[in-house]
Amino acid sequence: MRLPRPASLPPSGSRRHQPRSTGRWKRTSLIVISTLALIASVKPTAADVSENAAQRIGGGNPVIGKEKSDAGRCQECHGADGYSSDAKIPHHAGQYAGYLIKQLNNFQAGFRKHNIMTLMSEDLTAADIADIAAYFASQKPMRGDGAVINPLASNLFVNGDPARDIPACSSCHGDNGIGRVADNVFYPVIGGQRRVYLRSQLANWKLGERNNSPDGIMNKIAKLLSDDEINALADYISGL
Ligand code: HEC
Ligand code: HEC
Repeated sequence: MRLPRPASLPPSGSRRHQPRSTGRWKRTSLIVISTLALIASVKPTAADVSENAAQRIGGGNPVIGKEKSDAGRCQECHGADGYSSDAKIPHHAGQYAGYLIKQLNNFQAGFRKHNIMTLMSEDLTAADIADIAAYFASQKPMRGDGAVINPLASNLFVNGDPARDIPACSSCHGDNGIGRVADNVFYPVIGGQRRVYLRSQLANWKLGERNNSPDGIMNKIAKLLSDDEINALADYISGL
């Protein structure tokens, strides 16, 4: 399998969304990051993984977002601080605002299907979405209770399986699944996410019931995983 270039990546010279101060290093690193993201066996450097709070939170207002997520009842399921109350419901704490915004836009457009979330998102304005996403993104990052020892899953996570064209999860989701930003593509935080939720998303990507990743990348990856590997990965990643 050849990994596609994420559809929304602009030409490598583009500096959209990049702070001015990062200059030439950032331009060079953009090319490196967009290439690295597609190469299974190469891990990003610490510099690639580094990101700043402004990038994570985006343009919304977290203070207003706290009120809106309370009034909009998001906190009832996703938690007052972004830690969900149920194993099937994802944490949002420390998730990239850009990723949360994309998901809410996808729920509104019917591009990602889920009965509750279609209903919950339908009346939100773009400003509501940006503010709520900023609030959850600004919370203490989601974390599990320590890595589950699982050599099968940790090997897939860190190295992938080149013989089966499975890329390393960490090449896009970052070391320990803490997420990465490559210009305007957000690779979500998955480390410390709810186990049952992770398993259901991987199964949904595999079955094609979730189809909203750029160029279908997560469908392509999940289709290569056995059900045992999906279970093992969900256990392992939720413990990171
Ligand atoms: C009754 C419970 C409930 C309420 C209330 C609720 N959600 Fe959700 N939310 C869920 C569930 C369950 C999912 C997982 C959907 C799936 O399995 O695909 C989810 C998924 C999401 C996702 C995708 C997260 C990811 O990691 O991909 C976002 C973003 C989200 N919700 C935002 C919100 C916002 C904003 C509100 C308030 C306006 C809200 N939710 C209210 C239950 C709820
Ligand atoms: C080439 C980059 C890439 C690789 C490699 C990759 N992912 Fe992803 N993954 C993504 C992107 C992009 C998304 C967000 C899709 C969207 O916008 O809905 C995603 C989303 C996910 C989600 C959904 C998160 C949520 O909150 O709903 C899970 C779970 C996931 N990936 C697990 C994995 C696992 C496990 C591996 C390794 C077997 C892996 N990914 C490898 C790019 C990648």
